[in-house]
Amino acid sequence: MGLTSPFKEQPPQSLTRKLLPWTIYALASIILFWLYFYSLPFTNSPVHELSRPAPALVSSSFSSSSPAPPLPEGQEDEEERKSEPQPGCDYTNGKWVQDITVGPLYNGSSCGTIKDGQNCMAHGRPDLEFLQWRWSPNQCPLPRFDPNTFLDILSNRHIAFVGDSLARNQLESLLCMLSSVSAPNLVYTNGEDNKFRKWHFPRENVSVSVYWSPFLVKGLEKSSTGPDYNRLFLDSVDERWASDLGSLDMLVLSFGHWYLLPAVYFKRDSILGCHYCPGANYTEIGFYDVLRKALRTTLKAVSERSRANGGKGKHVFVTTFVPSHFEGDWDKFGACPKTRPFEEGEKPLEGMDAEMRKIELEEVQSAKEDARDIDGFRLEALDVTRLSLLRPDGHPGPYMYPFPFANGIKDRVHNDCVHWCLPGPIDTWNEILLEVIKGWTHQSRRR
Ligand SMILES: *[C@@H]1O[C@H](CO)[C@@H](O)[C@H](O)[C@H]1NC(C)=O
Ligand SMILES: *[C@@H]1O[C@H](CO)[C@@H](O)[C@H](O)[C@H]1NC(C)=O
Ligand SMILES: *[C@@H]1O[C@H](CO)[C@@H](O)[C@H](O)[C@H]1NC(C)=O
Repeated sequence: MGLTSPFKEQPPQSLTRKLLPWTIYALASIILFWLYFYSLPFTNSPVHELSRPAPALVSSSFSSSSPAPPLPEGQEDEEERKSEPQPGCDYTNGKWVQDITVGPLYNGSSCGTIKDGQNCMAHGRPDLEFLQWRWSPNQCPLPRFDPNTFLDILSNRHIAFVGDSLARNQLESLLCMLSSVSAPNLVYTNGEDNKFRKWHFPRENVSVSVYWSPFLVKGLEKSSTGPDYNRLFLDSVDERWASDLGSLDMLVLSFGHWYLLPAVYFKRDSILGCHYCPGANYTEIGFYDVLRKALRTTLKAVSERSRANGGKGKHVFVTTFVPSHFEGDWDKFGACPKTRPFEEGEKPLEGMDAEMRKIELEEVQSAKEDARDIDGFRLEALDVTRLSLLRPDGHPGPYMYPFPFANGIKDRVHNDCVHWCLPGPIDTWNEILLEVIKGWTHQSRRR
């Protein structure tokens, strides 16, 4: 009778919440784990960094009380007057509408910096309808990305994307769009698989960097020589990027999926517990609270160092959690087979996706309040969780590899249903980012 009287059988809310991640997501962890760390047995290319989803959504409105930021000082030009951004627009809610009139600003051959696994066009993805959709927020228009405006506003500035492989995915989208009008030079590269890189656009003197930091806080990734779980230090920010904060004007933080992987958590010198560590004698504590603590530590470090830096404002975005779209085994044909967005109401935002986003929005809000007194400091969530959830058609799937079906359909084929094809829906995240920055620029001019 359990099915007919669900309420009787249900554990209390809080318990449900606690149990969910371990039962349902233990499996997801294993899948992601393989995706993240192993080369696949019957292909040549390693999938090392197949990782992170970067969530994002600009949901909160601008804080009218905070002082105008020193950051954007681009010249007012025709284009900007035409599409004057609406401060406080909610880009979170809206729908995907088909638009065949304008294609993407770049393609798989015109942009040279697309990571191989995300170059769906070059890998022979046959359906290109996924490129024909525009996000249409309920409250305001979302103009097409204008690379010149972005470069103008960021001129003499340094923007950095920090986080997991979804941070990198978003960075590469931006880089391709900017490269359509101005050629960047790669001026720094370090780390296996290009984990730390910096480009410079000489004409506008804009620097764009990417830092690999999948937990944002200090973390030791599982390795063949160490324990078979990650180790996270929840009260220390990852200095591989944070030590450069002084020279960064704008930050886009993007993380989340690595928190699903097996890990042991440290705070100060003691062990808080672990996630998915059968065999180890630690208490399972899930990852929600851990993610919250880590983000709190991170935002605190960013704002405190900005405060100590005396008024040199910083603009910080937190891309909210981005859902993946596996519909079955990740190594079976048709793991993410959709070729169109979900329609309105077809796919509710719920479960882990909703919870991760909620934690991030709450932490951003609270850090924002704590930082109100810092001159020129801005913090927003780039709330892309929902608009990304609606795009099951935007992933490479089997086209993470070139022409996966050249020799017919095999029993097993690897699928990436986490990252996004370039060009693809992830370009929209940067469109929203630009609109928010434009809003700040206008606000500071009006002062
Ligand atoms: C890619 O873009 C370039 C430059 O805009 C264009 O010349 C080329 O035809 C495009 N290629 C494809 C496959 O669309
Ligand atoms: C170029 O931009 C950097 C910040 O990224 C700044 O420190 C430097 O002064 C700028 N150079 C010029 C010539 O304005
Ligand atoms: C696990 O930890 C508890 C408490 O620290 C200890 O009493 C117990 O002996 C440990 N068990 C194993 C198998 O190490």
